[in-house]
Amino acid sequence: MHFIDERTLLIENFPRLHVAILMDGNGRWAASRGLPRSEGHRAGVEAVRRVVKAAPELAVGTLTLFAFSGDNWQRPANEVIALLDLVESYLLGEAANCAAGGVRIRVIGRRDRIPPSLKAAIEAAEAVTSQGRGLELRIAVDYSSRDAILRAACWMLSSLEVSQAEFARRLGEVTHAGRSSADVDLLIRTGGEHRLSDFLLWECAYAELVFVSKMWPEFEAGDLEAAIGEFGLRERRFGRVPAVVAGD
Ligand code: FPP
Repeated sequence: MHFIDERTLLIENFPRLHVAILMDGNGRWAASRGLPRSEGHRAGVEAVRRVVKAAPELAVGTLTLFAFSGDNWQRPANEVIALLDLVESYLLGEAANCAAGGVRIRVIGRRDRIPPSLKAAIEAAEAVTSQGRGLELRIAVDYSSRDAILRAACWMLSSLEVSQAEFARRLGEVTHAGRSSADVDLLIRTGGEHRLSDFLLWECAYAELVFVSKMWPEFEAGDLEAAIGEFGLRERRFGRVPAVVAGD
């Protein structure tokens, strides 16, 4: 008899979502406890572990996390170093676990300005997890959506006519995202702010947006589940009329 566990059943029977998260509020979380901002980012990594563990069971197929933006280079040097170090240690420490748990890691963003040790950790994590099929974990590092769109557009300048699918494929290539840039279904931002901050602008064209007032280090698996529950109540129309009107 072929035994299928509950997790496999969920993954196979439901559409697998692309959830993107703007993990905001680490600095405020730390400040409210009299801690340096870097401690907020450290606590943020624990929240990352929680959502990565919970995601496959919530029918998430791709999870894109915004770890470091192109504009974050303008933060104080010690914070920049702390953030990039955290991403590097996460990749070094988690790649083997991810591979064992069926999680494929991809890091999206530029690779020409990051420290060589981080670049090496990215390449190693991507290689060792390349067979993962349970969840695609995309970590955005030195990522700017405008920069990516501009570079993909410049690359295509010589083509006279370009389809959206072809452009998305090029966008996937310039950001190291793989086969294509992948549309986002649900975008979550923690920390109470309501903006996109140059994250996945092309990919979020029809994303449902959910804003959460909690600071990122406080984010739990239950908050991800609640956001996905809210997503399930939304009617996605993609510019068309509601089904009930179309049937009139
Ligand atoms: C925004 O909060 C958060 C960031 C700029 C960094 C997020 C990074 C992590 C959670 C850790 C590393 C990630 C991985 C995937 C290992 P903020 O500092 O702008 O907060 P504030 O608005 O309260 O100041």
